[in-house]
Parts: sequence; C-alpha cells; structure tokens
Amino acid sequence: MKTFKKIVLGGAALVVVLAAAGLALTHQGEIAPQASIPTAEFSPQQIAKGKLLAAMGDCAVCHTAANGKTNAGGLAMPSPFGTIYTSNITPDVQTGIGGWSFEAFERAMRHGVDREGNYLYPAFPYTAFSRVTDEDMKALYAYLMSEPAVEYTPPKTELNFPYNVRRGIAAWNWLYLKPGVVKDDAAQAPEWNRGAYLVEGLGHCSACHTPRNGLAAEKTGADHFAGGSAEGWDAPALTARSASPLPWTHADLVTYMKDGYSPRHGVAAGPMAPVAHGLAQQSEADLNAIATYLMSYRDANAAPGDAQALIKEKTATPKLALDSEGYRLYQGACMACHRADPSGSTFGVRPQLALNTSLHAAAPDNAILSVLEGIQKPAHPELGTMPAFRHNLSDAQIATLLNTMRAQYGLQEWKDLSAKVGQLRQQTSASEH
Ligand code: HEC
Ligand code: HEC
Ligand code: HEC
Repeated sequence: MKTFKKIVLGGAALVVVLAAAGLALTHQGEIAPQASIPTAEFSPQQIAKGKLLAAMGDCAVCHTAANGKTNAGGLAMPSPFGTIYTSNITPDVQTGIGGWSFEAFERAMRHGVDREGNYLYPAFPYTAFSRVTDEDMKALYAYLMSEPAVEYTPPKTELNFPYNVRRGIAAWNWLYLKPGVVKDDAAQAPEWNRGAYLVEGLGHCSACHTPRNGLAAEKTGADHFAGGSAEGWDAPALTARSASPLPWTHADLVTYMKDGYSPRHGVAAGPMAPVAHGLAQQSEADLNAIATYLMSYRDANAAPGDAQALIKEKTATPKLALDSEGYRLYQGACMACHRADPSGSTFGVRPQLALNTSLHAAAPDNAILSVLEGIQKPAHPELGTMPAFRHNLSDAQIATLLNTMRAQYGLQEWKDLSAKVGQLRQQTSASEH
C-alpha cells in the first residue's frame, strides 16, 4: 500500500514537472514591434522576385476574402475543428503585419508562431513554407511590406476546446513540423532539385494532394501525393495511382500549369484554378523543374497514349440505348459544349470528358461539383466558364447523367450517387450565386 501511494504521488509530481517543462518549452516570447518598415533595404529586383514567390505560394488566394482587398485576410477556411479565418498580411501596423520585423515574419513562416508568440494553426501551410531559403524569405517580406497597407480586422478564429488552446499546436509541431530548407539530393540533377524545392516549399502542392491522418497531418512515404482533398474537392493523386485515363507526361504537366488546361486531361477547376493561375506566372524553367520532380513520382517512361484514339474508343459506340434518360440529359445539357468533335465551339476550351480525370476518379465529388456549381472562376478567363446546373437538374438526374457517362467510358457506376449529389448540393448551397 505504501509503495502504491509513493508511486501515485511520484507519478503526480512527474506530471506536474512535465507540464511545467512543457509550458516552458513551448513558450514563445513576443518579438517587439518594429518602429518602421525598413523600405530602404528593399531593392526593386527583390520586390519583383517576392511578387512571383507570393504567386507561387498562393498567399493572396488564402489571405483575400471574397470581394475583400488583396491580402487583407478574412477568408473563412472550414476545418474539421471549426472555421479558421486568415489574417491580414498587408503592412498595416494595427491590423496587419506592418509592425512585424523580418525576424517575426520568418518565425511565423518557419515555425508557425506569430509576432506576439501565439501558435498559428497549420491551416496556414507553414510546414511547407518553413523549407524556403533565407533569400526567398527576404524577397517575400520585401514584396509584402511594399504593398498597400489595408486597415481591416478579420473575424476572430474561435474553435471549440481543446482546439482553442493554441499551445496545443506545439505538440503537433513537435510531431509534424520539420523546419529546414529543402535539401538537395546529390544523386539528382539540378532541375529535379529545383523542382523539389518549389513543390515541397512555397508550392505546398502536398497540402492538398496528400491524404491526412486523424490529426490533420499529411501522411508520408508512399502516401505522399497519393491524393488528398481541398474545400470539398478531391485533389487527385499526382503519382502512378492517378485515375487519369491517359498517363500524365512531362509536357502535359507543363501545359497544364502554364495554361490551366491540358487537352489530354482537362482543366484546373475548383481550388486548383487559383493555384494554376499563380503557376502560370512562373518561368518556363521553373515549370519544367516542377514537372521533372513530379514525373519522378510516376513511370516517366510510360507510353503517352494516343488521345484521339482513346476518345474514339470511349465514345464511338453507344453503350446504352440512345433514348435512355442519361443520353437525353447529356444531349440536352452537355453535348453542345463537350462533344467529341469540338469543331464549331465558339468560346473557351471544351474539355474532352472521355479523357477527364474527374469522370474517371474513384470518388464522384469533382464531377458532381463541376455540374452543380459550373466553373465560374476558371484559371484564366480565356478558358471560358461552364454554367451551373444546380437549378436545372435534380439529384437523381445528375446521378443518372454521370453514371451513364461512366458506363459509356467503360467504368463502374458510382454507388449511392443520388444521395451523394444531395449531400454536396446542401454543402454548397451557402455559396449559391
Ligand atoms: C492555405 C491557405 C494559406 C496560404 C496559401 C497562405 N496562408 Fe498565411 N495564413 C493562413 C491562415 C489560416 C492563417 C492564420 C492562422 C491562425 O490564425 O492560426 C495564416 C497566417 C499567416 C501569417 C501570420 C499573420 C498573423 O497576423 O498572425 C503570416 C505572416 C502569413 N500567413 C503569411 C503567408 C504568406 C507570406 C503566404 C504565401 C507565401 C501565405 N501566408 C499563404 C492561411 C494561408
Ligand atoms: C488548394 C489545394 C491545391 C493545391 C495547393 C494544389 N492543388 Fe493541384 N489540384 C487540386 C484540385 C482540387 C485538383 C482537381 C481539379 C479539377 O478536377 O479540375 C487539382 C488538380 C491537379 C492536377 C491535375 C490532376 C489530374 O489528374 O487531373 C495537377 C497536375 C496538379 N493539381 C498539380 C499541382 C501542383 C504541381 C501543385 C503545386 C504547385 C498543386 N497542384 C497544388 C488542389 C490543389
Ligand atoms: C456552355 C458550355 C458548357 C456546357 C453546356 C457544359 N460545360 Fe462542362 N465545361 C465547359 C467549359 C468551358 C469547361 C472548362 C472550364 C474552365 O475554364 O475551367 C468545362 C469543364 C467541365 C468539366 C471539367 C472539370 C475538370 O475538373 O476538368 C466537367 C467534368 C464538365 N465540364 C462536365 C460537364 C457536364 C457533365 C455537363 C452537362 C451537365 C457540362 N459540362 C456542360 C463548358 C460547358
């Protein structure tokens, strides 16, 4: 009995000591606000470079609310733990980061801790940004600090217990944050290393394209780029697990990043559209580097396949009666724009759905969302928009239509599709235009 009591007391003492140590270790001090922005230290070249880097890192995509001012924050990011609002990262001293020295900015980007010492939620992809070089970090800082200051206080992020205890993120960081610049792999060519740096660093491609574990951290190993999710969309696998009917080639990837569209695969829609918009501003050399790196996640020697032959194979012979409901819906709602022979199309690109990853994926989400919401914000205006069918087609009609297309393309039908359409219709009804 005595020994038992000792163990309990000893255990309790240990817990107290560990908790105190934990608090001490996770304490991050405030970095004093800077008296003024050191504009004289920024060169025009550095600012121009920082602008490109910001496009690569999609800063404005997340830090700008609908109809809000660029980088003034306030975009609502739904997470499994509650809604997180992005911060104002314009150089306004009161409401933005005008008072942040480079040291404070760098600590946020590399360690996910704000100027006052509060831990930031990893919805901010600092796990990727922590891998950026000092030189690029300084250019980003110079650019952001040279943009117009916007006085705006975004809504406060208020998550439920225990997620509102920001200190808890220290434990998450301890497990999942690996700060340090992306290391060159001596066995690889410089172009591959440049690609790895861009993809794993500022590009944060894996934030969306890698599945996450129960603690919302990216899975690793063979799961890297094996397909994740973003804002209700499926971010397809960028590896050999891709559902794309034609294999992605190096040239396909470059075209997709440059134009927001690959004629052999489809468009960059949904959350990929603004990402593709930022990618299009990067140099040809950098896009080639990204493609080189990503190609090492799949069989780079696979035969590219013949797009025209595959379209013909998938669409030449109707698989169901032509007067079936699915075909009638397709003819009425889709064919004018998406027919196999696109000659006569007047405006925008018309992706060949027989080659589209969304229609061939295991999950129906992207195809459903494209039909329900249409594509209102393409990566580039010249790609054209697609109308929303939310008000024209019922859940059952969309299900019949999509499963008829699946059958036509030689694919298994998606199960419980009508219910899934209903779910996504409800989830997206708030953003209805
Ligand atoms: C995927 C969305 C996303 C992207 C992309 C993103 N951020 Fe953020 N960022 C956030 C969120 C969310 C927060 C707030 C986190 C919190 O409140 O804990 C944040 C916070 C910050 C902060 C801390 C600001 C403060 O006042 O505490 C800085 C600095 C920052 N981001 C800079 C950047 C820069 C620079 C880029 C581009 C290279 C960028 N962010 C890209 C989502 C994003
Ligand atoms: C904010 C989330 C997000 C980020 C960040 C992101 N992607 Fe995507 N990506 C998506 C989504 C969603 C799709 C599906 C788009 C569609 O179906 O039109 C996609 C599609 C793609 C595709 C087409 C895949 C296919 O088979 O059709 C490629 C290639 C791609 N992304 C490359 C990249 C690269 C390279 C990066 C980093 C520079 C990146 N993505 C960053 C969300 C993201
Ligand atoms: C008025 C012309 C038009 C009609 C009608 C139309 N689309 Fe589209 N569709 C487009 C355009 C243009 C795009 C490319 C949009 C962009 O710029 O990103 C597109 C893209 C798509 C995509 C590609 C999404 C991706 O991730 O690559 C799918 C899937 C799609 N349409 C399905 C359909 C279906 C199913 C119908 C019928 C219900 C339909 N479309 C009707 C014009 C149309």
